[in-house]
Amino acid sequence: MQIIILPDAQAIGEWAADHIARRLAAGRLQVLGVATGSSPLPAYDALARRIDGTGAEGSAEGGAPAVSREALETLTAFALDEYVGIEPDRPESYHAVIREEVTEKLGLDPSRVHVPEGAAEDLEAACRHYEQLIADAGGVDLQILGIGATGHLGFNEPSSSFSSRTRVKTLAPQTRRDNARFFSSEDEVPLHCVTQGLGTIMDAGELLLIAYGEHKAEAVARAVEGPLTSMCPASIIQWHHDAVVLLDEAAASKLEHLDYYRHVQEHDLLPDQD
Ligand code: GLP
Repeated sequence: MQIIILPDAQAIGEWAADHIARRLAAGRLQVLGVATGSSPLPAYDALARRIDGTGAEGSAEGGAPAVSREALETLTAFALDEYVGIEPDRPESYHAVIREEVTEKLGLDPSRVHVPEGAAEDLEAACRHYEQLIADAGGVDLQILGIGATGHLGFNEPSSSFSSRTRVKTLAPQTRRDNARFFSSEDEVPLHCVTQGLGTIMDAGELLLIAYGEHKAEAVARAVEGPLTSMCPASIIQWHHDAVVLLDEAAASKLEHLDYYRHVQEHDLLPDQD
């Protein structure tokens, strides 16, 4: 696991966009795993600014390659999760969020962007179908992740099996409270969701977890330094062979071995490359 501490959300977004741009330019990224929530938004915005070199002067030292429209048009994307019972055209749905924040911003082909069908009549069949779609696409090359206050990845709440696949889950009360800001009231937040499982997420070739702000510090500390436990689903990233955790100072503030991570970052023998 590589832990990288950056000054703020914008710097995190730039780092993530540089990384993704390099992967795209090197032909190493055909299938991108995308996440909702506020955490990945600066990364999507920074990536959009790199399209065909527009605004590339904002890229990191060394200059990241611009992102060609062509590479994005043939990119396939899979979202992590969706609420149950919210129609895809409702603004609160993750279908709508992904459409607005990812598909449109990056100019992706909408037929290549997939979101779990939380409004399907047969949810179990929809979950199986989603797993099949990912498999047919050859698996996710790089998965962007946020982390919830409960330590969830996607909507895998505490007690989620580490080998779980896409399925229906019940949201934790804390998650419903946290996500109430996107609805008219907490009661409107669905009780259930469809989410890729932790096993599905772990199959991705690479994980890029983004967290910033003090409110994430506790969950980050448990995920990065706590025991590997389904009580903190995000702790499974410790088991992934290629996980990068991008944090700002506030989100990193409860890490016990912070000095060591900074030391590693400072003396990186193999800085981020293709
Ligand atoms: C939601 C999503 C997660 C996301 C989390 C954190 O519940 N299902 O995928 O990581 O919220 O959201 P935010 O980035 O807004 O803090």
